Amino acid sequence: MTDAARSEVRAPNIIEMIEISKAFGAVQALKNVSFHLAPGEILGLVGDNSAGKSTLMKILTGAYHRDSGSVLVDDQPTNFRTPHESRQLGIEMIYQDFALCGNMDVAQNIFLGRWPRKGPFVDRVAMYREASGVLERLKVNVNSVYQKVESLSGGRQQSVAIARAISFNPKVVILDEPTANLSHTATDTLLKTMLELKAQGVAQVIISHRLVDIFAVGDRVMVLKRGENVGDRYVKATNEDEILELMIAGTAETALAAEMAAAR
Ligand SMILES: Nc1ncnc2c1ncn2[C@@H]1O[C@H](COP(=O)(O)OP(=O)(O)OP(=O)(O)O)[C@@H](O)[C@H]1O
Ligand SMILES: [Mg+2]
Repeated sequence: MTDAARSEVRAPNIIEMIEISKAFGAVQALKNVSFHLAPGEILGLVGDNSAGKSTLMKILTGAYHRDSGSVLVDDQPTNFRTPHESRQLGIEMIYQDFALCGNMDVAQNIFLGRWPRKGPFVDRVAMYREASGVLERLKVNVNSVYQKVESLSGGRQQSVAIARAISFNPKVVILDEPTANLSHTATDTLLKTMLELKAQGVAQVIISHRLVDIFAVGDRVMVLKRGENVGDRYVKATNEDEILELMIAGTAETALAAEMAAAR
């Protein structure tokens, strides 16, 4: 299929990564991996440990730099040097350790590094009001924006990390292993939050070893194996067994087969 034909069959993508390769010394973390994401789409990115999932997303945000390949955001070629630059184009990544400050409260964490100011002072009224607004938009309940983050449960800390990301009004949110340490209830809340964001048009990538979560909210699943894209399936057209099979035995050919099926 020609590139022109492909762009006709696919919805316009907010993110397009083409033939990305990245090595760390002797380790080839990614080999010619292509990736796309449509507005409002939820993509599950799966694969065994060391498959290259986090590396691919860190290349998207500018936390890591690719050796070759291209990254397009809204069809514009980009070359982010830092996550700060990708944030300006609406891309947010939430890391597994959340990177929050436990001894500060919820609102202070949401606006970390950019507390609203009134002259030389922090505008506390605006900060707590805006923090409440973000949490409301997310429909999450953290009791109080004055509560210290270290006193919150893991699930609620996760909500604060997401609230922080959302407060930048992103178009794309990447969640790296968000449910690994969450209870069933906290996982349910997180998945609801993802659907809420989707309804607001935010595209999301969820990296997870828990296929059940991806099948609960995802539109599409992409499988990486040893740095290669070995398959890309619509959730509606696949099942957990097929995805597990790809994770274990996928090859460049299984990826190609999916592409042809998607084009039909
Ligand atoms: N900063 C780094 N320096 C050196 N090697 C790295 C670095 N980051 C990743 N790697 C290597 O790149 C490969 C892919 O790692 P990556 O973290 O992307 O895997 P992953 O799919 O996210 O795995 P996991 O499920 O364990 O999080 C691994 O072999 C890893 O050791
Ligand atoms: Mg990882």
